[in-house]
Amino acid sequence: MTEPRWNGARYDEGTGNVNGAMEIGFCDNPLSMRLTKLSRSIEGKVAIVTGAASGMGRATAALFADEGAKVAALDINAEPLEAVVHEIADAGYPVKGWTLNVADLDAINQVIPEVAAHFGGIDIVVNNAGIGAGGPVDGDEYEATWRRAFDVLLTAHVRIVRAALPYLRQSSGGRIVNIASTEGLGATKRSSPYTAAKHGVIGLTRSLAVEFGTENITVNCVCPGPVHTGLTESIPEADKREFARRRVALRRYADPEEVAHATLSLVLPAAQYITGVALPVDGGLTIRNA
Ligand SMILES: NC(=O)c1ccc[n+]([C@@H]2O[C@H](COP(=O)([O-])OP(=O)(O)OC[C@H]3O[C@@H](n4cnc5c(N)ncnc54)[C@H](O)[C@@H]3O)[C@@H](O)[C@H]2O)c1
Repeated sequence: MTEPRWNGARYDEGTGNVNGAMEIGFCDNPLSMRLTKLSRSIEGKVAIVTGAASGMGRATAALFADEGAKVAALDINAEPLEAVVHEIADAGYPVKGWTLNVADLDAINQVIPEVAAHFGGIDIVVNNAGIGAGGPVDGDEYEATWRRAFDVLLTAHVRIVRAALPYLRQSSGGRIVNIASTEGLGATKRSSPYTAAKHGVIGLTRSLAVEFGTENITVNCVCPGPVHTGLTESIPEADKREFARRRVALRRYADPEEVAHATLSLVLPAAQYITGVALPVDGGLTIRNA
């Protein structure tokens, strides 16, 4: 460790003050003094990530593990979930997977307490699991698509929050992030079940942010634009490029990890005054007029 270059300065252990002059220079500080109070670390926090087997959920689980969190990885899809859990565990991080259909209330009410018991609490919930749910409003499948969209994309979020709430209340700073979409801020033709559910996610986020305002729990959502994930896998690359060229300021799709970093920013202890926001992580999709 580099020694600081003191110049007649004295550290007062009682007050924590440094008296006297100190040379300005780059050096490690053996006194571990910081000028500010709030932490940008999630080390030791227990984080639930739904839809962790693929795409943004997988990237979020990996990033949170890299940042020192204990990760509960939840997904309906057992095999890829197991692969993600192995990947994180092989890197030496604390992680456990639970196979869970987020549309199943009984399963939620069983798994969330199991997570809390396994890791000794819950500090962070990322409601990320999702599906595509589009089609013309007069289509034959519409009723079923609508129901499924709301079950998976919206009702599941609030059910998981309700199940996790007793543990979030015991956390030193509970954090909820719901993954909405730019479809929560605007609309695409023939996508009304998905769009309505994502608008609902933003409404739910705002409502819970207000409700938990005095409970040291923040609630925010991230609104990704187009991202390379399982959900967009079937779109031909040429179509993706053309869409990005016409609509996205950064002229490209995002990598899942880029969205995961936005989610991380919202769950930091230092993010304690951010609540109720719908943060577009969209490469400038929603602000681009032409
Ligand atoms: N990819 C995009 O361009 C994009 C843009 C905006 C928002 N989103 C949202 O991001 C979130 C993550 O999606 P993604 O793009 O990473 O897709 P993805 O398909 O790669 O991952 C979604 C994961 O959710 C899981 N899942 C689906 N239904 C589930 C259920 N009932 N219970 C538990 N797990 C379930 C899937 O098995 C999968 O692992 C979704 O909420 C999606 O709506 C995606």
